[in-house]
Amino acid sequence: MRGLFSALTLGMVLGLAGCGGSSTTLDDGGANQTSFAWWLRDGIPLPLEPAANPMTEAKFQLGRHLFYDVRLSGNGTQSCATCHHQDKAFTDGLVVAIGSTGDQHPRNSQTLTNVAYNATYTWANPALISIEAQMQTPLFSEHPVEQGIDESNQDEVLQRILDEPLYASLFAAAFPNQGSPVTFPNIIAAVASFVRGLTSFNSPFDAFQLGDRSALSASAQRGQALFFSEALECFHCHGGYNFSDSTLDRAIAFVERPFHNTGLYNIGGTGAFPVDNQGLFAATGDPSDMGKFRAPTLRNIELTAPYMHDGSIATLADVVDFYAAGGRNIETGPYAGDGRLNPFKDSFVNGFELTAEEKSDLIAFLQSLTDQEFVTASRFSNPWE
Ligand code: HEC
Ligand code: HEC
Repeated sequence: MRGLFSALTLGMVLGLAGCGGSSTTLDDGGANQTSFAWWLRDGIPLPLEPAANPMTEAKFQLGRHLFYDVRLSGNGTQSCATCHHQDKAFTDGLVVAIGSTGDQHPRNSQTLTNVAYNATYTWANPALISIEAQMQTPLFSEHPVEQGIDESNQDEVLQRILDEPLYASLFAAAFPNQGSPVTFPNIIAAVASFVRGLTSFNSPFDAFQLGDRSALSASAQRGQALFFSEALECFHCHGGYNFSDSTLDRAIAFVERPFHNTGLYNIGGTGAFPVDNQGLFAATGDPSDMGKFRAPTLRNIELTAPYMHDGSIATLADVVDFYAAGGRNIETGPYAGDGRLNPFKDSFVNGFELTAEEKSDLIAFLQSLTDQEFVTASRFSNPWE
């Protein structure tokens, strides 16, 4: 993690549950005692909460204000919401993200749907296992610059927040009994609380699960059967209530942090991926980890185009074609190579044949994972408007 704030904020905020690496035991930090009103439906377990940052409504509300506030960037132009828009399930619609000083990020902005349940954070980092730790990157990273807070402007950023009268009462409520609560550790704790509260379990698929047989069309029901079939194999990696095999909650005792190569690239036939986007390999240096990424949730997937870690697949129909082909063959240009033959490709990505009707059934099922309440609820919206 880059310089400046790592020691300061990580040390102070992150006395966090499970922060000691890939441990296989969980500590819910006694967080079951908190009274936070999670938006969950029947059958969905409570997410974990870090012992050092238990959920409170006051922190959630302060975090919501900060999430949408461009004052929380070095040059005052970008907030978290710049790259995470509610109407797009907290993505930005771009191929790759653009930071506050114009830097291009190598990766596509991720949905914040149900991030409380993720076993790891970002597209492929096994060491990032809390939202609090993940947030260091957009706030303080230098390569690429996102919100661009650094030594030269950190005092100015805090002063802008001190100058907003509304924050005095929000910080006092969130961090009672602290003399000067406007600090980066408290800012991180609050924004992480807001993000952790972004739960989405109110789609037509959920209504169907709860017994409303009219919630899914016949086409979506056929698509559901395809999704969970051994022919298509989708559910192996996108299974469970959050449609990802990298899911944690208070009921799961054994932590798995899987990553998969789906055959998107195979540069020069060596298995290689583009330099900035080599997935798990960038963290481990193990050649067999080349091109392995976390299987993202498919909830709200209809709203989060373009797809994949680098935004290189434009539509859901194209994603289905990609899996049907068993990977992507790039015939010309710097990334030429047949991803279908990538030596590190997961054995569940084998290709299959679908009729035109089956393809639209599968897409109808994926669209049934859209939660309209999540993307319109005022609870999650910009409080400054
Ligand atoms: C410049 C655009 C940009 C800004 C600003 C930004 N993000 Fe992100 N966010 C991204 C990108 C890109 C990724 C994927 C990063 C990667 O894989 O390396 C991401 C990933 C995440 C993730 C991980 C999601 C997951 O499923 O693992 C979380 C959580 C997150 N951002 C929260 C925030 C918060 C909170 C803020 C404000 C402090 C913020 N982001 C600001 C672009 C941005
Ligand atoms: C071997 C595990 C695996 C299987 C099987 C699998 N996926 Fe994926 N899926 C992934 C991974 C990993 C990613 C992210 C890859 C990347 O970004 O490079 C992904 C990405 C996606 C995305 C884009 C997500 C986003 O946020 O951009 C969609 C949509 C998707 N998969 C749907 C499906 C469907 C439909 C099937 C079945 C036909 C399927 N997947 C089968 C692992 C898998």
